Amino acid sequence: MCGIMGYSGLRPPLPLLVSGLERLEYRGYDSSGVAFFDDFGALSVVRAVGKVGMLKDLVSDRVAQPGAAIGHIRWATHGGVTLENAHPHQSGPIVLVHNGIVENDQALRIHLRSCGIECLSETDSEVLSHLIRLEYEKDGVFPEAVRRALGHVEGSYALAILCQNDPADLVVVRNGPPLILGLGAGETFAASDIPAFLHFTRQVHPMDNGTIALIRHDEVRAGRLEQSLQDWTPPPSMTISWDPVFAEKGTYRHFMEKEIFEAPRAMMDTLSDRLSVSPVLPELDRLALGIPPVVAFVACGTSWHAGLFGRAFLEQAGIPAFVEIASEFRYRKLLLPKGSWVIGISQSGETADTIGAIEASRRAGFFTVGIANVPGSTLERECDLCLLTHAGPEIGVASTKAFQAQVSLLMMLSLALGEASPRPDLLDALLRAPHRLELFLESLSAESLDARVERLRQSRLVMFAGRGLDYPLALEGALKFKEITYRPADGYPGGELKHGPIALIEPGVTVVAPLVDRSLRAKEISNLREIRARGGYVLAIGPAIGKEGHEIWYDDRIGLPDDPPWSGVFQAAGVLQLLAYRVASALGNDVDQPRNLAKSVTVE
Ligand code: G6P
Repeated sequence: MCGIMGYSGLRPPLPLLVSGLERLEYRGYDSSGVAFFDDFGALSVVRAVGKVGMLKDLVSDRVAQPGAAIGHIRWATHGGVTLENAHPHQSGPIVLVHNGIVENDQALRIHLRSCGIECLSETDSEVLSHLIRLEYEKDGVFPEAVRRALGHVEGSYALAILCQNDPADLVVVRNGPPLILGLGAGETFAASDIPAFLHFTRQVHPMDNGTIALIRHDEVRAGRLEQSLQDWTPPPSMTISWDPVFAEKGTYRHFMEKEIFEAPRAMMDTLSDRLSVSPVLPELDRLALGIPPVVAFVACGTSWHAGLFGRAFLEQAGIPAFVEIASEFRYRKLLLPKGSWVIGISQSGETADTIGAIEASRRAGFFTVGIANVPGSTLERECDLCLLTHAGPEIGVASTKAFQAQVSLLMMLSLALGEASPRPDLLDALLRAPHRLELFLESLSAESLDARVERLRQSRLVMFAGRGLDYPLALEGALKFKEITYRPADGYPGGELKHGPIALIEPGVTVVAPLVDRSLRAKEISNLREIRARGGYVLAIGPAIGKEGHEIWYDDRIGLPDDPPWSGVFQAAGVLQLLAYRVASALGNDVDQPRNLAKSVTVE
């Protein structure tokens, strides 16, 4: 949902802003823009409709002097995709970029009109620039003007702001959407996400909600919005371990393809240090917590599917669990037993609905746990306890490697919370799973998938079905498929097909069926026979079962090694991700930035 970036330092800021915005492009790609001081010292704004590439062309012959500069990429909320609505927005000497939503923008517009100011755009963001300008005209103190103006604003905002009269100064504010400072030598970055500046520094300060900072090169002073400038102090920082190579495409055509093949490493990094002869979650041990009576998982999208696995694993460990879509859960009556845990799962750690659900749970007195991939994210800081997956930065909008990292961490959590001595077979399967996945992905040649990709591309409708552990796989397969191919696809519990979806089956319809759950395999197979009997085409993803050809219940099968289900789910997930990726590429779609989607949804 929009990405912002700011810089103050001695380098020419334009190339650095453009490359940072390219790395934030997964957050929105409707329009983009930058503001900088040109070689005459004048504050210049350049905006473009469309992707950052358009902006890059426009600024290719522009020179910016060292100092402060800001940039933005937009995912439209208020107002259409037009040049007028693109950021930055300027009012006199003040220029700003905004991520978030101003809830009282209509009232503020009326107030501005009474001061003789008409907004030029339909955005809620433009009003902020005028409000700050009005305050600035009172005393000429830039950061104080920002602070006072925001006192009139209701809503959420991450802001980066420049002032014509202070060319080295960058003021940034966070109240809701994420904003992370990157602290370098002689320079400071501010961005919605770490990959924007990961090439320059790994020293970061994730800003707290309700805080503001004044940045001049590497001097940073930060404080709460209620505190006046003289009380602001240098903020603390932490070092993050992410490798900048993760944020590069390398030899791959798309980030998504690269990230599918990074899944084994994502799992390995998540599990190592936590798993040896027994599952160790030092984070849990430190708190010496008892076993919760009930665990509720809350999440959105792919992370919700990971939560369905979490439920299955905890149930196997004897712990009652359920899974809820965060946007629904947050407005429900929370009738959980005392001592229950609410676990929010989120790659970004910034999804507004997941955070809202966690906040509601905390208010209701439940113990909250976050499973997040981005260190320093809001989820990490809002929860009583956070378990980090270590998938590294995920750039492709459709989540891939983060999913396998979440699922492996959930397996480990169930082992750590389960019986005193966890089942050695499960532990062994988990220990081997990353390497088994790596070997499997290496063995899958592009050609071996060609015919399947073509079949899916030609299919009138693609459905995904599975039971037990194969059900969340079916849901995730369908989500990946629709997200990037734009073709209708849905995932169903295999046993539910006959209660409605089977009416859709006819020649030209393909049903993709992951089959890693041995316990329900016979039942899954009879559901698939029902599909074939009605002219549907069944593409199974699973190990060879019984005598091949003896009793054919599928039309085609992508073979998986006959590994235990705890290893097989990762392999089946890899196949489903690759199939969606390959079909979308064959259709010529923008795989990394699919239409209408954003990676991190920071609005309700
Ligand atoms: C968006 C993305 C999905 C993602 C979901 C949850 O909708 O497009 O790929 O699964 O958000 O994101 P989170 O960061 O909370 O895991």
